[in-house]
Amino acid sequence: MRQALSLGARHFGLTAPNPSVGTILVDESGTSPIILARAVTAPGGRPHAETLALEAAGARARGASLFVTLEPCAHHGRTPPCAEALIAAGVARVVCGIEDPDPRVGGKGLVKLRQAGVEVVSGVLEAQCRTLHGGHILRVTQGRPHVTLKLAMTADGFAACADKAPLRITGAIADAQTHLMRARSDAIMVGIGTVLADDPLLTCRLPGLESRSPVRVVFDSRLRIPQSAALGASAGVTPTWVITREDAPHDARARLEAAGVTVIRLGANEFGRVDVGHALRALGARGLTRVLCEGGPALAEELAKADLIDEFVAITGSRSLGRPGLVALGPTLSDAILRHFVPASETLDFGEDRFNRYVRARPCSPAS
Ligand SMILES: NC(=O)c1ccc[n+]([C@@H]2O[C@H](COP(=O)([O-])OP(=O)(O)OC[C@H]3O[C@@H](n4cnc5c(N)ncnc54)[C@H](OP(=O)(O)O)[C@@H]3O)[C@@H](O)[C@H]2O)c1
Repeated sequence: MRQALSLGARHFGLTAPNPSVGTILVDESGTSPIILARAVTAPGGRPHAETLALEAAGARARGASLFVTLEPCAHHGRTPPCAEALIAAGVARVVCGIEDPDPRVGGKGLVKLRQAGVEVVSGVLEAQCRTLHGGHILRVTQGRPHVTLKLAMTADGFAACADKAPLRITGAIADAQTHLMRARSDAIMVGIGTVLADDPLLTCRLPGLESRSPVRVVFDSRLRIPQSAALGASAGVTPTWVITREDAPHDARARLEAAGVTVIRLGANEFGRVDVGHALRALGARGLTRVLCEGGPALAEELAKADLIDEFVAITGSRSLGRPGLVALGPTLSDAILRHFVPASETLDFGEDRFNRYVRARPCSPAS
């Protein structure tokens, strides 16, 4: 199952709206097990990992054991259900990490297998499989993607200069890590404050992984995004979605759409801004499962207030700003990290920068 887990993680950012499932098919009949096939959900979400493993093993699948991170599907979609394919191939045993909370599956895949006489073991490395499929689980149960918030801060805790003038906080190694996080996400999101200050491209520019740039999403209540913004100019190459208010100016909308930007209009919150909960549900409805927030402190604080952060990555530079600036961790965000998050690993040194990853101690509330 550990091998299946690491296979599953390989296609993060490539399979939405489907989960990236890892599987291995093993011949356990001899004294030492023989791996017949390894597979992960294909880019685009199909074929499923089980189909690929069965194809690779051919007739040798008869009598074999399948280790899979998520319950095989039971519903007829664009392809026949994996549970039926496994039965037809004569697989003797299915060991799975978790049941699929997708209401179209919800245990039915395992029931189908058991009814056909296949031995089924469920709940193996359950917590790790739940983490692997966190984006899928949140999308099918709460209608929104998994959110990782990433913030870089100076040694004295600032995310930016007070006047938002350009500020370099992190070095090359941490920047490469950020680009890797982009490649493993379905979307990167920022607020318009970041676009106006930095005019970022928000693509993955790691050699060899350039094609893994995900969708770019901007929260921009009044469509202040300039005509010259790098995001708009490259929208034909890398998808760009701008989330705005229902009553956003029509001419600005038309201009963006003509440049290839997708404009998503939603009701505003009590402060006249795009509502983060509605926005994330709109992203879930468009099939996104894993979103990386690279916005500034304002968007980060709003996400914390709405209890919509699932993972937090802090990259702390070695230099101090040495004067008042924009505080990286607003009051709600700092409180949430202290009370609801736990470190997911040791502090890592990326050159002179320190990298800390935190995950929720308990999954977020069903209402959020
Ligand atoms: N250190 C880091 O990791 C990091 C990361 C990103 C940016 N920055 C820096 O941070 C500065 C920008 O900070 P910022 O806080 O203004 O950037 P931001 O959080 O990316 O953008 C904030 C803007 O987003 C819009 N927005 C729309 N809906 C929102 C909502 N529900 N909640 C909050 N904002 C919403 C608001 O403008 P409207 O009301 O007009 O929609 C708001 O002013 C820049 O200097 C940039 O370089 C630092």
